[in-house]
Amino acid sequence: MDNPRKKIYLIGFMGSGKTTLGKRLAAQLSWSFIDLDKVIETRTGLKITEIFSSRGEDFFRSAESEALRSLEGGQQIVVSTGGGTPCSDNNMNFMNESGLTIYLKLSPEKLYSRLAASTGGRPLLKDVPAGELRDFIVKKLAEREKCYSKASWTINGECDTISGLVTQVKNWIQE
Ligand code: S3P
Repeated sequence: MDNPRKKIYLIGFMGSGKTTLGKRLAAQLSWSFIDLDKVIETRTGLKITEIFSSRGEDFFRSAESEALRSLEGGQQIVVSTGGGTPCSDNNMNFMNESGLTIYLKLSPEKLYSRLAASTGGRPLLKDVPAGELRDFIVKKLAEREKCYSKASWTINGECDTISGLVTQVKNWIQE
C-alpha cells in the first residue's frame, strides 16, 4: 500500500472550492497538485462535458475510478476529486486506505449561492432548471453526505482558514 502520508484527497460537493483550496494547500506544503477531472481528460482524450454527452455517466464513473487508482504512489500530492468521486466503486475506502481524506463542507445555501451564480459548465447541472437548482443541491448533498462523512477530517469551508488547515496537515505529516 502507498505510504499514507503522501496523499491528501480533498472531497466535497461541486462548487465547494476544492480546487482553489487544493492548489493553495499544495503550494504551502510544497507538494504537487492534481485535479482528478484533468487526469480523466488526459487519460480519455475527452473533455468532461464530452464524456457525459457522448459516453454517459457510467462511463465517466469508471474512468474516474480508474484515474483515481492510477495516481503515482511515491509522490506527495494533494488531489482535488470530483463531487461524485467518493460515492462510487468503493472509492471512499480506497482513498482512506491510501491517504488522508479531507471533506470541505459547505452548507446547501452557500453551495446554492455559488452554483446559481455559475454552474461552471458542469454536466450534472446543465439540465436542472434554475428554479429547481436549490432542491437538486439539497437532495444530492444529502445522498452524498453518507460518503463524505467517512472522511478522516471535515473542515468548515465557510469558517476555517487555509493557514489553520496547513498547520493541522503539517502536524499530521509529522505524526
Ligand atoms: C461531478 C463533479 C465534477 C466532475 C463531474 C461530476 C459530480 O467535479 O467530476 O462533472 O458528480 O459531482 P467538481 O466537483 O470539481 O465540479
